[in-house]
Order: sequence, then structure tokens, then C-alpha cells
Amino acid sequence: MSSEFSRLIMGVWRIGDWAMRPAEVADLIEACLDLGIDTFDLADIYNGYQCEAMFGAALATRPALKPRLKLISKCGIALVTPARPQHRVKHYNTSRAHIIASAEHSLQAIGVEQLDLLLIHRPDPLMDADEVAEAFAALKQAGKVKAFGVSNFLPHQFELLQSRLAEPLVANQIEISLLHTAPLFDGSLDLAQRQRTMPQAWSPLGGGRLSSTPAESALGRVLQRLGDELHATPEQLAIAWLLRHPARIHPVVGSGKLQRIRELVAAQNLALDRQQWFELLEAAMGREMP
Ligand SMILES: NC(=O)c1ccc[n+]([C@@H]2O[C@H](COP(=O)([O-])OP(=O)(O)OC[C@H]3O[C@@H](n4cnc5c(N)ncnc54)[C@H](OP(=O)(O)O)[C@@H]3O)[C@@H](O)[C@H]2O)c1
Repeated sequence: MSSEFSRLIMGVWRIGDWAMRPAEVADLIEACLDLGIDTFDLADIYNGYQCEAMFGAALATRPALKPRLKLISKCGIALVTPARPQHRVKHYNTSRAHIIASAEHSLQAIGVEQLDLLLIHRPDPLMDADEVAEAFAALKQAGKVKAFGVSNFLPHQFELLQSRLAEPLVANQIEISLLHTAPLFDGSLDLAQRQRTMPQAWSPLGGGRLSSTPAESALGRVLQRLGDELHATPEQLAIAWLLRHPARIHPVVGSGKLQRIRELVAAQNLALDRQQWFELLEAAMGREMP
């Protein structure tokens, strides 16, 4: 399944910061396709529930792009915002009705007939796995969603939902980076590798914080030295570090700047050896391996 999605995924969470007209967003989408990034990550709630409509407005200026794209969206978080006056408190909603309505709204906002992947955005303490299974089956049956996954699920939460589904979950989108190494040790990547599901790494550059790593810190020093050795930027090393993991992590990158995206794509040609990988891990954790 993972081969159906490009190894790097373009995250659209920050579209509101890009300050681009729809045609400029279309240019960026097309440039990503030319770079081999065909998968785009959205969510109902991004940019105050406006992200999908903005992405859809971009596609409306260049509809020929639509069949070339793999689209991911998410549902299940309910924000308190003027766009949703009925929400009194931030909460999660994985009811059958909400999942179906949210996916249908995503399709309408983006202006497409089918999502390639729908993720439950966060584990919901009130999640009834049988009800989620019913929603997934109905969306699949109607041809509205091709495949399903989750986001921010721990292994036991993933396994609970999986136990009630007719088809395998194909992805878990979680935070993984040199600045967030927990999934290497909490079972998330072990489960992904065991089940051959696709781990997607959100904020693979720590949401931009990696770029301001102090040069004198342990991580800053290793990034500098390996960067000199391998002729790579810190951001390229951070992506190459994720790609080196055998669970086949798919980084979800978030820059809106084409030059930076191009640089990250080039990191796919950067092969870290085992010791370089551990040097980065050790520096990131601030301690030696036991
Ligand atoms: N499932 C979830 O719960 C969840 C949570 C958060 C995010 N996500 C997904 O993950 C995607 C990526 O998250 P993210 O935006 O935090 O990812 P990121 O790639 O870690 O960070 C991107 C940010 O770093 C900045 N940046 C600074 N220097 C950079 C450089 N040299 N190269 C690249 N970027 C640089 C970018 O600014 P410029 O735009 O100015 O380059 C942008 O603001 C989101 O769009 C969303 O789709 C999912």
C-alpha cells in the first residue's frame, strides 16, 4: 500500500501562512508533482476549517491536476471557532455520523469525488470501534474514500480499531523527528513494521525548530559535522534520518517554499550509514545509547 503514496508527502496545514493566490498554490502543487511528490495531506480543521476550500480553490484554477493527486484528509477533532458555532468545548467526535459528514464535506470543499486516505485525527476516548468500522464501510461502499488510517494513535489504540475493521488500516500519522524520537521506543514503529503499515511523520523538521538548533548544542555539532562530510543541510539530514528507518517512514513536510521542498526531496539520495544514524539519535536524545 505504501508504494501508492509518494515517499515525501506535502502537508498543507500552513496554507494560511503561505499568503498565495489560488493560482500560486496550483503552481506549488504542480511543482511538487514534478518533483515526485504526489500526495497531499489536509484536514477538515486546518486553517480554521478553511484549508480544504483553499486547496480546492487552487485546484479549480487547474482541474487537470486533480487526477494526478493522492489526497489525504482527516476528521474527528471539533474546534471551538466561529466557523462551528455549535461547538462549546474542544472535543473529539468519532461517531458514525460525524465521520461520514466530515468526509463528505472534505470532498465538497476540495472539489473531488474520492479521498485516497481518510485518517481519524486523534484517538478519541469515546471512540466506539464498531461505529468507526460502520462509518468506514459506508464511505468505502459509496466510493468516497479509498483507504483508512489514523493519526496520533498509540499501538494499543491502533490495534483496537484494527480489530473491528474488515480491511487493514494503512497508515498512522504521528510526530517523528530528531526533536521527537518517542515513536522509536513506544512501539509505534515496531507495530508499523510488523504490520507493514505506513508511518507518516508529521513535523519532520520539528515545525521549523530544527533550523534554529543552536550550533553549540550536541545536535547542532553533529548536524554541522555530518553536513560538512555529506554536503547536506541540517534539514536534509533530518529527512534522511527518517527515511533510513526500516518501517519506511513517509515524512509529511510543511514548507510552502519550493526551493526548500526541492532540497528536502534531494535528501532521498542521501544514505546515512548506521553509525551516522546513531550519532544523530544520540545527539538528539542528549545521551548515549544504553
Ligand atoms: N496529524 C497531525 O496531528 C499533524 C500535526 C501537525 C502537522 N501535521 C501535518 O504535517 C505537516 C508538516 O508539519 P510542519 O509544517 O510542522 O512540518 P515541518 O516540515 O517540520 O516544518 C515546516 C515549517 O518549518 C519552516 N522551515 C524553516 N526552515 C525550513 C527549511 N530550511 N526547510 C523546510 N522548512 C523550514 C517552514 O517555513 P516555510 O514555509 O517558510 O519554509 C514551515 O513553517 C502539516 O502540514 C500537516 O499536514 C499533522
